[in-house]
Amino acid sequence: MRFFIDTANLDEIKEAKDFGILDGVTTNPSLMAKEGITGTDNVMKHYKAICELTDGDVSAEVISTDFEGIIREGQILADLAPNIVVKVPMIRDGVKAISWFTENDIRTNCTLVFSAGQAILAAKAGATYLSPFIGRIDDTSWDGIELIHQIAEIYAIQSFDTEILAASIRNSKHIVDAAESGADVVTCPLKAILGLLYHPLTDIGLAKFLADHKKANEKA
Ligand code: G3P
Repeated sequence: MRFFIDTANLDEIKEAKDFGILDGVTTNPSLMAKEGITGTDNVMKHYKAICELTDGDVSAEVISTDFEGIIREGQILADLAPNIVVKVPMIRDGVKAISWFTENDIRTNCTLVFSAGQAILAAKAGATYLSPFIGRIDDTSWDGIELIHQIAEIYAIQSFDTEILAASIRNSKHIVDAAESGADVVTCPLKAILGLLYHPLTDIGLAKFLADHKKANEKA
């Protein structure tokens, strides 16, 4: 399973890269706004800066919701760098645009996915990635991980090539459950990935190893 970082913050991307686990980046209009990136020129410059930080795929989301606008924006985004993936919302014109991008060799990430039906449509359109939002589903008291499991089963039965990119990850357990449920990729805040590191018994065990070593070598 690959780890993407869900952020537009360059420092967080660099930190993930230094940690050695960065396989890619996903952004969305809210994450770009959070970084104060406004204006087309600044947005394009920022996407380029992200693409220079990783060889992995970088999802850049369109703002348009009409077919012509999505195509126009998506082509501009795709021309920024070879590792750009055009992020398109699961709406009627979005599915139509993903089909067009597929026919024109532009890779896509279908986002804002909340059902197996939407996942089937995205795969039929040839989306490169599918982004089911686990956390936001959990927020409605439904089971986000169950959706990942259901989509993974359908995609395997139907031999769909679209990769499941589990998104809206809130914590480390989401990462473990997504891995267990068949996600190809998780995209999350670095904090959720770093949370995988910690277990109290590891800390206790290491402290004892070092204490025993120190005690034995004091006598030597
Ligand atoms: O970027 C897409 C998705 O990961 C957003 O997650 O935390 O805003 O629900 P979140």
